[in-house]
Amino acid sequence: MDKPGTVVVVGGTCELGKNLAQHYVNRGNLVIVTSRDLGRAQATASELGANCTGLAVDLANPHGIANALAGVEDVQHLALVALHRDENKVREYNIDEAIKLVTLKLVGYTECIHVLAPKMREDASIVIFGGLARNQPYPGSTTITTVNGGVSTLINSLALELSPIRVNAIHPGQVGDTPAWLSKPKGVIDNLISRTALGRLVTIEDVTHAAVFLLENRGVTGVNLRVDGGRMMK
Ligand SMILES: NC(=O)c1ccc[n+]([C@@H]2O[C@H](COP(=O)([O-])OP(=O)(O)OC[C@H]3O[C@@H](n4cnc5c(N)ncnc54)[C@H](OP(=O)(O)O)[C@@H]3O)[C@@H](O)[C@H]2O)c1
Repeated sequence: MDKPGTVVVVGGTCELGKNLAQHYVNRGNLVIVTSRDLGRAQATASELGANCTGLAVDLANPHGIANALAGVEDVQHLALVALHRDENKVREYNIDEAIKLVTLKLVGYTECIHVLAPKMREDASIVIFGGLARNQPYPGSTTITTVNGGVSTLINSLALELSPIRVNAIHPGQVGDTPAWLSKPKGVIDNLISRTALGRLVTIEDVTHAAVFLLENRGVTGVNLRVDGGRMMK
């Protein structure tokens, strides 16, 4: 059997990235987790296991990505998870914050793929993190709604251009056990729960399970997968 290839998790210091990285560390892959900060990436890597290493990559500065990822080889799976949080209402529009998020998710993610494509195995796969805000806007979601909408169409051209490498997107609903939602008032969470068919928010584990499916199922490419507990049904 082939030696397991490298798994790269860009944004590997957040809970969703870490959980996915842990899955592949446990499976015996060499795993690379990235952060803007080398110390944070290395600390996360040592927490995850001996076969994990940390790298510094700033997606908001796409010209630096090629250098940052230059040492990465033999990529089997790439997960693009990083996020710059931008609550930006159009009447108080903050251009710099919007540019950071748009650059990070659309140009930064694409540049990572451009840099790593020559290092990918023929049966490699990529999962890109979008989110429910693409279909379910809220006041302040203008940038994230458009960027996650961009993720859902970015995968189409990438899946064609990179074939047989597979490219898919995952769109989680509010992930109840991530820091972003653990800190919200009970009333907000109860309201969100009432709008799911399952009667609960999805978990980090649910998202990892779905990301692994997209990375590993050999018949799936160009797919946008919602993992939201049935939000679109209510
Ligand atoms: N949490 C949810 O409920 C939820 C719902 C829907 C979709 N999602 C999607 O899931 C993904 C992860 O979300 P999250 O809530 O877990 O995120 P998060 O906790 O805010 O973490 C963001 C991650 O992005 C990295 N990052 C931030 N700015 C960066 C930059 N300029 N360059 C490179 N890396 C950068 C951070 O690393 P450092 O700070 O160490 O640099 C961190 O690892 C995102 O793509 C998000 O859109 C999440």
